[in-house]
Amino acid sequence: MNSENVKDSNFEKNILCIGGGYVGGSTMAVIAQKCPQYKVTVVDINSDRINQWNSDTLPVYEPGLDDIVQSIRGRNLFFSDDIDSGIKEADIIFVSVNTPTKTFGAGAGMAADLQYWEKTARQIRDASKSPKIIIDKGTLPVKTALAMERILTATNNDIHFDVLSNPEFLAEGTAINDLTNPDRVLIGSRETPSGIKAREELVALYRNWVPEERIITSDIWSTELSKLTANAFLAQRISSINAMSALCEKTDANINEIAHAIGMDNRIGSKFLNASVGFGGSCFKKDILNLVYLCRYYGLDDVADYWESVVRINDYQKERFIFNMLHTMFNTLVDKRICLFGFAFKANTGDTRESPAIDIAKRLVEERAEIIITDPKALENAKIDLADIEGKIHYIEDPYEAAKGCDAIAVMTEWEMYTTLDYEKIYQSMSKPAFIFDGRDLLDHKRLFEIGFNVYPIGKPRFSHFKDK
Ligand code: UDX
Repeated sequence: MNSENVKDSNFEKNILCIGGGYVGGSTMAVIAQKCPQYKVTVVDINSDRINQWNSDTLPVYEPGLDDIVQSIRGRNLFFSDDIDSGIKEADIIFVSVNTPTKTFGAGAGMAADLQYWEKTARQIRDASKSPKIIIDKGTLPVKTALAMERILTATNNDIHFDVLSNPEFLAEGTAINDLTNPDRVLIGSRETPSGIKAREELVALYRNWVPEERIITSDIWSTELSKLTANAFLAQRISSINAMSALCEKTDANINEIAHAIGMDNRIGSKFLNASVGFGGSCFKKDILNLVYLCRYYGLDDVADYWESVVRINDYQKERFIFNMLHTMFNTLVDKRICLFGFAFKANTGDTRESPAIDIAKRLVEERAEIIITDPKALENAKIDLADIEGKIHYIEDPYEAAKGCDAIAVMTEWEMYTTLDYEKIYQSMSKPAFIFDGRDLLDHKRLFEIGFNVYPIGKPRFSHFKDK
């Protein structure tokens, strides 16, 4: 170890994470909790975000995360905006910076924007004074670890870097459990003696709490591609069930019955078969578009078309939802008041990235409806998402107040709290005829119908009081 490596003698190892977002923050909190012998530091260029990590209001909402951070922050978990010092001190560096879809130039709208990631690689190279293991934690297109290696070694100094890929499979809302009890941890390295040694170090870190048989190792490219494939398969399942939901609505079949019947086949499995208004979140669309871009790059247009159709069906599902509302509410939404129940891309998170609610809200405004948005955690993000939209948009946290005087409720997010509301009271306060469009098949449709609502679920027969149903 180089003498310039500043080491805190109280700890066995110094671990750094560059990027204090959902993945970086939650993963490091769990590593620090499970490995008190390591010092874990999270750095970010955004000092506001770091200040939030150091405050009582963390920058991300994730069940269980607050408790962990509060119990170990300042003990072996630290948050800082001094990236260079963090790099100097570290033995192991996780890189978890964002790689959004490119909005400009070649591959715009498809390829990953690697500018933050490349700047980070250069910063690691320039600030390092001792050998390090660099771990690529983000979802990146294949061969990025190789590019990182090239940047890191493109200097005259003889510092050795080993680059590993260790994709994160956590889902928001269940991040702490996913990290504590992962189905698997995947680590990719070069098959060189030094690559294998670095990989063993990371295996040893995870062994602190993950059973040996769940830690799998592979070559670096297969590891990177596994992450894209996992997300593509998961999103494909949702588009498949959503595609069937359209057929169910035309034929009076029930998508829940179908999901139950096919889910009992072990080969298919029962998870991830909930029909919805569409999938959202920061990963699915981005990763699939990335995969599509890769396939096109290699001339595999048929394969690219296949995966692209998963995103196309997702857009179709949202448009179908709007068309259904429009058609049902007498072919005009002008000045109708529509209440969106939920804005987060799924329950138990305040995250609204790629939330289907964004597209639904924009389309409703295009139809000149007045929209009232309610959500227990995501209202601040909703305001940011819709800041540029000109139209009548209101944000009200209390769902009873939000629904008052509305013509329709559209359920966007499967928040548990929406299942226990007093719908009798809500019905009384709404304009008649009152409609519910349940984009998550969350509510008790029969009961709502009995109260007086006209109910339009996804992929199920509707409950309508109109004679011409
Ligand atoms: C996903 C992957 O699950 C995770 O492994 C990866 O690391 C990151 O991307 P996340 O985006 O946090 O995680 O959420 P996820 O629970 O997968 O849900 C994604 C979207 O699909 C949400 O909008 C959700 O509401 C929707 N969904 C999920 C459905 O519409 N139906 C389902 O059956 C499941």
